Amino acid sequence: MSVLIKNGRIVTADEDFVADVFVEGEIVSLIGKNLQVKADKTIDATGKLVMPGGIDPHVHLDMPFMGTFSSDNYATGTSAALFGGTTMVIDFVLQKQGKSLYHALEEWQGRSNGKAACDYSFHMAVTDFNESTKAEITKMVNDEGITSFKTFMAYKGALMIDDRQMVGLMQEVKKQGGMVTVHATNGDMIDFLVAKHRAEGKLAPLYHYLSQPEITEAEASGRFSDMAYYTGVPAYIVHMTCEGALNQVRRVAARNQKMYGETCIQYLILDASLYEQNFEGAKWVMSPPLRQKKDQEALWGGINQGSVQVVATDHCPFKWEQKLMGKDDFSKIPNGAPGIEHRMELLFSEGVNKGRISLNKFVEITSTNAAKIFGMFPKKGCVAVGSDADIMIFDPNEEHTLSAKTHHMNVDYSGYEGWKLKGKVKSVLMRGQVAIENNQINVKPGYGKFVKRNKINGII
Ligand code: URP
Ligand code: ZN
Ligand code: ZN
Repeated sequence: MSVLIKNGRIVTADEDFVADVFVEGEIVSLIGKNLQVKADKTIDATGKLVMPGGIDPHVHLDMPFMGTFSSDNYATGTSAALFGGTTMVIDFVLQKQGKSLYHALEEWQGRSNGKAACDYSFHMAVTDFNESTKAEITKMVNDEGITSFKTFMAYKGALMIDDRQMVGLMQEVKKQGGMVTVHATNGDMIDFLVAKHRAEGKLAPLYHYLSQPEITEAEASGRFSDMAYYTGVPAYIVHMTCEGALNQVRRVAARNQKMYGETCIQYLILDASLYEQNFEGAKWVMSPPLRQKKDQEALWGGINQGSVQVVATDHCPFKWEQKLMGKDDFSKIPNGAPGIEHRMELLFSEGVNKGRISLNKFVEITSTNAAKIFGMFPKKGCVAVGSDADIMIFDPNEEHTLSAKTHHMNVDYSGYEGWKLKGKVKSVLMRGQVAIENNQINVKPGYGKFVKRNKINGII
């Protein structure tokens, strides 16, 4: 199968020009003006943007969490990703405390093998670091191509590790050529505030937000950064929401540390006023919670200064009936929200169209940087000869409205119901296959491949 994409405006992290792209099999084979080649299929991209497919390095598909499972499985979640121009996701395998990393990996393989529509990889979340876990790190890196290790500084009793384990893990990961990533919030402080609010009978979703003040995130981000500095491991903070966390990344940049920061689309465009309603606020109960307008400004600033390298989703959807598990107690509301389908369109509409970020920056933070940071570049994250033909063709002018009635995620509400956006995904190539066209998906679950990633040295 060959595809010729004609006359599109090709935008990468550092280029912007009009040309044709010729795809043979799974790979981009030629880029140039007026290519004279015979193709099985031609797509006229005149007036459209031709950009690398999105990479979302923070999703939770079919994840057992807080007594239930996130509602998108590998088939529905990765199909929704493709509709939204995302061609690769990285999910989190969660080690069970007391069990091995391989035990968890096999569990995640059981839920994902043969089911993904787009390409995918795993971060390994280490929730119990000990001598036997330590011995598995080298196998993860060298045999499985899993080169990033997630840690949680919160969710005590289920996922959280203490600082002693953190430093031990960092030393081993550094030795093996990997990266340590973190959910950086102070779990003990949060648990104290949750217990206090519950004891006072303050049980509405608003108290989820009030139990995780900015300082809980800023403190943990600083502590994590200092431990990473001490060990020299390349490090990455996931889902940064606030100025206090961002300032820790800015601080350590001054000592030339290999430290990267991710935010998620919701933290850039939604704020904590959404919790000031009755149980409806449960739709946005996620950890960390939405913050203030001043934090949104800080995060947009951080993107432009290069302190925030990635905009992900932390896609972790729960249906309304699952959210109702916390009807009488905010601490029982499953944490997480849907986002995998609309990250690219929301960021384009709210970021590029509103003059907050450039088009090149858009590509950098939705695709290229994730590929570089997580050891997949230039196979992924660019439109270039020899790279996988993961390509999004995007109409920058088409207007549309988001709604749970039309989205493809397996969740019965939208955090963005009725939002009017300018800019729409028109076609998506997934390793050379025209996966999305005319609002239809043309690849089956199982087309997506597991991507083994390279070692990470923290240089992008
Ligand atoms: O609320 C969230 N973010 N749920 C998913 C788990 C996590 O902390 O990323
Ligand atoms: Zn998290
Ligand atoms: Zn997450």
